[in-house]
Amino acid sequence: MKFDTKCVRAGITPDPTTGAIVPPIYQSATFVLEEVGKDKGFDYTRSSNPTRQTLEAALAAVEGGKHGACFSSGMSAVDAVLRTLEVGDHIVCSDDVYGGVSRLFNTILSRHGFDFTYVDTSYPERVAEAIRPNTKMIWMETPTNPLLKVTDIRAIADIAQPHGIPVAVDATFATPALLRPLEWGADIVMHSTTKYLSGHNQIIGGVVVTNDDEFQAKMRYQQKSIGAIPSPFDCWLTLTGLKTLALRMERHSASGLTVARFLESHSKVAKVTYPGLESHPRYSVAKQQMSAFSGMISFELEGGVQAGRKLMNSVQLCALAESLGAVETMITHPATMTHADVPAAERNARGLTDGLVRLSVGIEDVNDILSDLKMALESV
Ligand SMILES: Cc1ncc(COP(=O)(O)O)c(C=O)c1O
Repeated sequence: MKFDTKCVRAGITPDPTTGAIVPPIYQSATFVLEEVGKDKGFDYTRSSNPTRQTLEAALAAVEGGKHGACFSSGMSAVDAVLRTLEVGDHIVCSDDVYGGVSRLFNTILSRHGFDFTYVDTSYPERVAEAIRPNTKMIWMETPTNPLLKVTDIRAIADIAQPHGIPVAVDATFATPALLRPLEWGADIVMHSTTKYLSGHNQIIGGVVVTNDDEFQAKMRYQQKSIGAIPSPFDCWLTLTGLKTLALRMERHSASGLTVARFLESHSKVAKVTYPGLESHPRYSVAKQQMSAFSGMISFELEGGVQAGRKLMNSVQLCALAESLGAVETMITHPATMTHADVPAAERNARGLTDGLVRLSVGIEDVNDILSDLKMALESV
């Protein structure tokens, strides 16, 4: 099956009882056993549920992986991956990651004996230098949230493999429609399904995909033991969203490039970062690794913080909101919203300035998005 077909059909068979083309929502906590020790493959929804199983199979298929495990949020998926490590283990992590991931690593997991070193993974040699004898994972985002740094996954896998270190990639910004990290040598792929995969701002969810049977067994054990699992209804909504992923990503990417070019040519805009612009420092890596560049853009205005705030308060079509990757265009101020819990000194060291604006370009008519931005830029 080609990718677009997988989005619509993978893992889905007509309901054996009724022939329903859309898989039913098995909104049931428990399943009646036929006799002691004999069930029909399900016993309790925390461990497994038919709707979740369908979604996990579909997500593994679109990622080109063997196994999928769904969690109740992107954060719980990240947490599940990290919980496979032991106290004293060292993790090399991208220096620019979603603020919630920074918060989990720096304020919770570091208190539980995990040791993190942050490097700009878009320079693979810095990853090589950071590896220690006790390094047990490389965690990276590509493209990163919010600075859209792009890392050459193959280069990192080549560094990690001789040491036997698994490479985990949070590819939420790209989705499997544009980037499939397992094909470039990654061992684990994670997504916040809250974003593009479900695509409609209706659910919070996460997924981990891998080809490794042993690692998948650990994910299953975590689902069962910790219970951070998505509801059957949320799984069903995600399955519905997934069907249009390929189409949506085409529009997000086409409009993303148009909006990025518009911003880059605007006199009031100081800097635009978008992996599909020739000015992006890793444009050639992005072009090789990704089939298009998604709808995520970050930019700064000539007028700095004040101008950025004015712009975000002036837009009318673009929604001033925390999330990304949905059909609606959303505008975000990372310093006070998604990355507010990252200490200011750390934000500044990363290059995440108070003037940075993040835009998630939706699938509305691009002319309406451009008009809204033009109008708001006139006001600053
Ligand atoms: C790149 C990235 N990873 C992980 C997450 C966490 O996902 P969730 O909000 O579904 O917990 C987010 C949320 O914005 C994100 O942008």
